[in-house]
Amino acid sequence: MTAAKIAPSILSADFAQLADDVERVAAEADLLHVDVMDGHFVPNLTIGPPVVKSLRKRTDLYLDCHLMVDNPGELLEDFADAGADGCTIHIELGDPRPLFATMRDLGLRVGLTHNPETPVDMVLPYLEEIDLLLVMSVHPGFGGQDFIPSVLDKLTVARKVVDENELSVELEIDGGINSETAPRAAAAGADILVAGSAIFHADDPATAARQIREAAWPRAS
Ligand code: DX5
Ligand code: ZN
Repeated sequence: MTAAKIAPSILSADFAQLADDVERVAAEADLLHVDVMDGHFVPNLTIGPPVVKSLRKRTDLYLDCHLMVDNPGELLEDFADAGADGCTIHIELGDPRPLFATMRDLGLRVGLTHNPETPVDMVLPYLEEIDLLLVMSVHPGFGGQDFIPSVLDKLTVARKVVDENELSVELEIDGGINSETAPRAAAAGADILVAGSAIFHADDPATAARQIREAAWPRAS
């Protein structure tokens, strides 16, 4: 049994009314996914610790910060101070262990992610050291992209390793998740589904989040 959590991605919210958008989805959200992009690691520029600090005052939801930046190590303390609950860094930047230690010292939950074209073997050696493994199911940078089905094989492999070794790491998938793709991600072993445009571009974000949850985990809903 997986954790069956929904993480709306505020990347697709309206930043001019961010707190209102979060409130509209809060009842159906288990975490809030915060996409941090620096215009270098990915070709898009979004938000950072000041927005997390403002969000922290307006919601008790777990703030799940996905750092798509070249220099996460220089930002971790600011995210912790701002009230982030966990930060996820990309394996493509190199040895993540020093940053795991920094995150632990700061009281942040530790996340690791990898791009669609990065082999899952790159992240498997770290599963015992992290709280969350994020499988990217689009190329990071933008919301609203099509789900890349081939990443499901990586999720299946990670699920098997986690289960066989009785690890506590949660498996999250991010990109192109909607009511059609969610069941496939859940079947492959996802615990947490991130969804941005499918939730915040819907007329009723809470209903959209609930529909994704019910599609993914019909018996748990
Ligand atoms: C992409 C981000 C995703 C994005 C997902 O780089 O990491 O979290 O917000 O958006 P959708 O659900 O629209 O693909
Ligand atoms: Zn993300």
